Amino acid sequence: MRYVTLTQLFEHPITQKYVKRSGMAHAIACAYHAYRLAKKYNVNPDHATKAAFLHDIGHYTWYRNGQWDYDLYKENDIHAIKGAERAHKLLIRLGEHPRSAKSIALAILLHTDSYLPQGELHLNPLQQVVAKADEADEEPSGEHHYRQISDMRAKRMLHALDEKVNNALSNWHSANEQSG
Ligand SMILES: [Fe+2]
Repeated sequence: MRYVTLTQLFEHPITQKYVKRSGMAHAIACAYHAYRLAKKYNVNPDHATKAAFLHDIGHYTWYRNGQWDYDLYKENDIHAIKGAERAHKLLIRLGEHPRSAKSIALAILLHTDSYLPQGELHLNPLQQVVAKADEADEEPSGEHHYRQISDMRAKRMLHALDEKVNNALSNWHSANEQSG
């Protein structure tokens, strides 16, 4: 059962403010990639699509003299930490199951290691799917954050993806119950 849909997330003012800031078109493209990858890696499609859709919700705008400043970003950014917390709060507020909200928040926290001290992360399959979905939609110099999409098209695409997730989720549950 799904407690919260992508469409519900899209309509919330927090998503409208922060996901639009980091790029709605990128978020939706990632959610579609995550759907495809979740199938491939046998990951819960509901968690994967929601985590991918919200993965950049913690972004801040690092500008200097009206221009995006990558050095400033690299030095000060904590978007994955902020995003994990912001997405978790939003999901809980909309009625998400706390266990799912935690898995989704962790996948957001670990979708990038750009803010971490050098080291290696050992990601679980859901976390790998979300990180790969982000990579799959990345463009050089962060151009993916600036791609535009109309509200109408965004809504239509998320509604269509919600339908796909609803179907895939029941298959995923029965497959995973059978295999224990
Ligand atoms: Fe991203």
